[in-house]
Amino acid sequence: MQPVTLRTERLVLSPPRASDIDAIYEACQDADIQRFTTVPSPYERRHAEEFIPRVAAEWDDGVHLTWAMREGAVLAGTVGLYRLDGAGTGELGYWVSPWSRRRGLSTEAARAVLDWGFAPEGADLHRIEWRAVVGNVASARSARALGFRYEGYLRDGIAGVDDRDDCWLAALRRTEDRAPSPWPVLAD
Ligand SMILES: CC(C)(COP(=O)(O)OP(=O)(O)OC[C@H]1O[C@@H](n2cnc3c(N)ncnc32)[C@H](O)[C@@H]1OP(=O)(O)O)[C@@H](O)C(=O)NCCC(=O)NCCS
Repeated sequence: MQPVTLRTERLVLSPPRASDIDAIYEACQDADIQRFTTVPSPYERRHAEEFIPRVAAEWDDGVHLTWAMREGAVLAGTVGLYRLDGAGTGELGYWVSPWSRRRGLSTEAARAVLDWGFAPEGADLHRIEWRAVVGNVASARSARALGFRYEGYLRDGIAGVDDRDDCWLAALRRTEDRAPSPWPVLAD
């Protein structure tokens, strides 16, 4: 698949490139990114260097599609659609750089990715899933704000680098409205 550039009010989403290596390396030192995503821990500079060509190859294959979130010259995070199964299902994933958090950027970027993911001229998906390690309230609140509906608790449902974690599962269907619904695992 050819990489696609998406634009939102504050962000440009485009594939990560070599000039992002320093910022990716710095962002991925963050304890929450290491705990809640599948990045290696400890995260070394070579991991950021290897990430750039890997993402390019994954765009070619069309199974894992990753964008860098750019706010001007600042790398605000990454967002992606993963495990596209060729039958209409994929999974949303994201991390926001520690210096760009709590400003609504995860939801802003993910909305554009969902719009493109569901569009027939985009990835033409029917169902987009979201999974997070149990207790990742920040990510769950972001997914709820995006309109994801909570579906359940999966034992060992996320494979990390060396082990597995229980996870929450939520999903959004193409035809669903995106008004936030109550999640039983979120108090407010
Ligand atoms: C989860 C993460 C992407 C949120 O990014 P963000 O840009 O700061 O989030 P937003 O500003 O868009 O906020 C989205 C929602 O999450 C809530 N939120 C964000 N950070 C929060 C935190 N630390 N604690 C509680 N709620 C939080 C916001 O209040 C908002 O909820 P609301 O609309 O109900 O008020 C970011 O914290 C992160 O990168 N975490 C580490 C990596 C990670 O967990 N990735 C997801 C793996 S499933």
